[in-house]
Amino acid sequence: MADVTFTLDGSTVTGRRGQTILQVMQAHQRNVPNLCNDPRLDPYGGCRTCVVEVEGSPRPVPACATPIAEGMVVRSESGPVEDYRKTLVELLMMEHLGGEGDGVGHDDLALLARDYDVEPLFELPSHRRPYKDRNEFIGLDADNCILCNRCVRYCEEVMLCSALTLTGKGPGGHIQPTRGESFLDTDCELCGGCVSTCPTGALYDKRALGTQDTQVAKTTTTCTYCGVGCQLDLHVEDNKIVKVGTRIGAPVSEGNLCVKGRFAFDFVDHPDRLKMPLVRNDAGELVEASWDDALDRVAEGLNGVRERHGSQKLAFLTSSRCTNEENYLLQKLARGVMGTNSVHSCAAT
Ligand code: SF4
Ligand code: SF4
Ligand code: SF4
Ligand code: FES
Repeated sequence: MADVTFTLDGSTVTGRRGQTILQVMQAHQRNVPNLCNDPRLDPYGGCRTCVVEVEGSPRPVPACATPIAEGMVVRSESGPVEDYRKTLVELLMMEHLGGEGDGVGHDDLALLARDYDVEPLFELPSHRRPYKDRNEFIGLDADNCILCNRCVRYCEEVMLCSALTLTGKGPGGHIQPTRGESFLDTDCELCGGCVSTCPTGALYDKRALGTQDTQVAKTTTTCTYCGVGCQLDLHVEDNKIVKVGTRIGAPVSEGNLCVKGRFAFDFVDHPDRLKMPLVRNDAGELVEASWDDALDRVAEGLNGVRERHGSQKLAFLTSSRCTNEENYLLQKLARGVMGTNSVHSCAAT
C-alpha cells in the first residue's frame, strides 16, 4: 500500500494509505486517550477522547476514525484539544459511579481521570438495573458503563454473535444481554471478549471479584487446550489463578480467546487432576508410577504389538493439546522408529 506523508505535532511522519491518524500516532509511540477504540474492531468514533486538530478542519476530529491524507497537518497536543479531552473525561466520570467490578478489570477511564487530575462535576443517579444472571463467569454493572459500545461491537465483529445490545435512549440507555436477563439465554459463547474490551470494568469476571487487577501477579503463558496456542496472562493471587487475561495484539490470538482458554482454568487446582503417570498393577488396578517406569511400559507394549502383529497394526493419535513440535516428534516416532504411517492428530477437525 502506498505511503502517505503528513505532519504530526511539527514532525514529518509516514503511514500507509487507509491507516487512521491514531494508528500512525501509536506506531510512532505518540498516544492520546482512546476509550472507545479497540484495534480488534472497526473505527467507531463515539467517545471523542482521541480528538486532534487537523489544519483546515472547522472542529477537532477523532483520530481513531479519521484516515491520514497526504500533506495534512495534525496537532494532538495543543491547549484546546487537551481542554476538550479533559472536559470529556469529567463528563464521562459523572457516569462512572463505581460498582461491583471495580478493580477487577482494567479501568482506563479512572486512569485517565487520574492523569488529567479531574473529579466528576457531580454524580448522576445510579443506573444499576436489577440483574440476575445464572452465568457463572460474566458480571455486568451498569453503574460503571459509559456506553462506549465496545462490548457490543466486539461481540458482533469478532464473535459474529448478537449476544449484547445497547438498548434504550438518553438516560435510559444501557447495555444488556440480548432479549433476556442471562447471557445463557442468548447466542453468547462465553468467550469473555466483551469483558476484555470493556474500558471501565462495567463488564467483569465474576470469579475475580474481590481481587484487584493491579495487585495480582501476572504470568504470560500459552493456552494448553488446543493447538491454536493462544497467549494468556494468568492472574495469580495466593498461588491460585483468579482470572485469565490477555493483551490486545498478543501473538497468535491478538487478545482473543475462546471459553476454554478464558474461563476453564479450574483444572489446575482440581483434586482429581493427574499429576503422575498411572499404570496397571498385576491386579489390574491403576497405580502411580515414575515417568521412567511408565514410558518403559509403553515401549514394551508397542514393541510387543510390532513383534506379534507387525508395524502396520500400530497407530498413533496425538492430543489436540500437543504443540506443533510435539506432533512432529510423535510422527517421527511413528514413522522413523515404529515403521507405520498411521499417525493422526485429533486437532485436524
Ligand atoms: S462473552 Fe463473547 S459471545 Fe458472549 S457476549 Fe461477550 S463477546 Fe459476545
Ligand atoms: S459495558 Fe463496558 S464496553 Fe460495554 S458499553 Fe459499557 S463501558 Fe463500554
Ligand atoms: S482452547 Fe481456545 S483459547 Fe485455548 S488455544 Fe484453543 S482457541 Fe485458544
Ligand atoms: S477513541 Fe476515538 S472517538 Fe473514542
